[in-house]
Amino acid sequence: MAELLDHLRRRIAHEGPITVAQYMETCLAHPDHGYYMTRDPLGAAGDFTTAPEISQMFGELIGMWAAQIWQTMGSPNSFNWIELGPGRGTLSADALRAMSGVPGLKPALEVHLVEMSPVLRERQAATLQGWFPNWHDRIDTLPDGPAVIVANEFFDALPVRQLVRTGQGWRERTVELSKDGALTFGLTPALGIAPVLPKGIVDAREGDIIEVSPASIGIARALSDHLRDHGGAALIIDYGHTLSVPGDTLQAVKEHAYHDVLRDPGSADLTAHVDFAELARAVRSAAGIVHGPVTQGAFLSALGIHVRAEQLRVNASPKQRADIDSALERLTAGAAMGRLFKVMAISAANLPTPAGFEDLQSPSLTVTEDGS
Ligand SMILES: C[S@@+](CC[C@H](N)C(=O)[O-])C[C@H]1O[C@@H](n2cnc3c(N)ncnc32)[C@H](O)[C@@H]1O
Repeated sequence: MAELLDHLRRRIAHEGPITVAQYMETCLAHPDHGYYMTRDPLGAAGDFTTAPEISQMFGELIGMWAAQIWQTMGSPNSFNWIELGPGRGTLSADALRAMSGVPGLKPALEVHLVEMSPVLRERQAATLQGWFPNWHDRIDTLPDGPAVIVANEFFDALPVRQLVRTGQGWRERTVELSKDGALTFGLTPALGIAPVLPKGIVDAREGDIIEVSPASIGIARALSDHLRDHGGAALIIDYGHTLSVPGDTLQAVKEHAYHDVLRDPGSADLTAHVDFAELARAVRSAAGIVHGPVTQGAFLSALGIHVRAEQLRVNASPKQRADIDSALERLTAGAAMGRLFKVMAISAANLPTPAGFEDLQSPSLTVTEDGS
């Protein structure tokens, strides 16, 4: 996107270096040239493939998870299905279809999608025909009432600030212009505002990079408040870590391969790993209840993905069976998405522990209060 590179060059020339968070936000969300604003990046012909695009089993199991929340709430007459960053709408479509089979639930459902991309909104409208979704630019306008809120690979797209420990103290990583006008990383001379570091980080060493995502923290707190006021639960699924540890996780992906973060801005997906320990602390500080995180493999297994795969295999052709087996492997195996991806739930205080989080015996799968 030559236009976005020109825009960034002009902006930096006028205003000075920008933070990594500003760079990430501009690359993804610039109204005219931002990555998500201009394309549907999902699928084999795009840049990356997400879990719901791998198999219908993913959305179906999440739909049944949501139905169980609805039932434990006493089957209210009105229930909001809310998805943050729904991509092509595939997860919502599979989940809503599964939920429709639960007696009494379909008439209660209202669909709300938080989506910034006009291109993806069109795609979602086509996928979710008959569900009459309501779109929102931001979570502030979500409706009152009990809800299940799902965010799959949404938080990893929210901007991160990168703070660097130097011999002179903390500095913030910036994007600036080299002498020949290329984008390059730099550091602020000093930090204007002292950074609020994740609580789990105690002994950062010189050269360490700490990522903080004020946008993610704000949204996690807002979800917690929403559930406290209206009831229900949220499910956050993403790749990331269960402890707050130093590390540069900012990455660009284009055509299913890693790409230079500063090259061709706006043409590649930019993400950072989600710090689940920090999200959990944010929710708890807003008096919300956190469950997990657990690994995606453990979560889907607890929800019965193997049983669902067996059901689908019964009437499948040999080719379809091979696809089901391959999808199962990709979604659950530790070497694929099963371990890197984590699942964390937030719930209103009066709900029992949601499905998939009851059996948190293995300490390696869980995060404790202090992130240790
Ligand atoms: C990686 S895609 C995930 C899509 C989908 N959840 C899936 O699993 O296939 C990220 C989605 O979040 C949306 N998105 C990213 N940042 C957003 C923001 N700040 N506000 C609203 N939507 C956003 C994108 O447009 C896209 O729909």
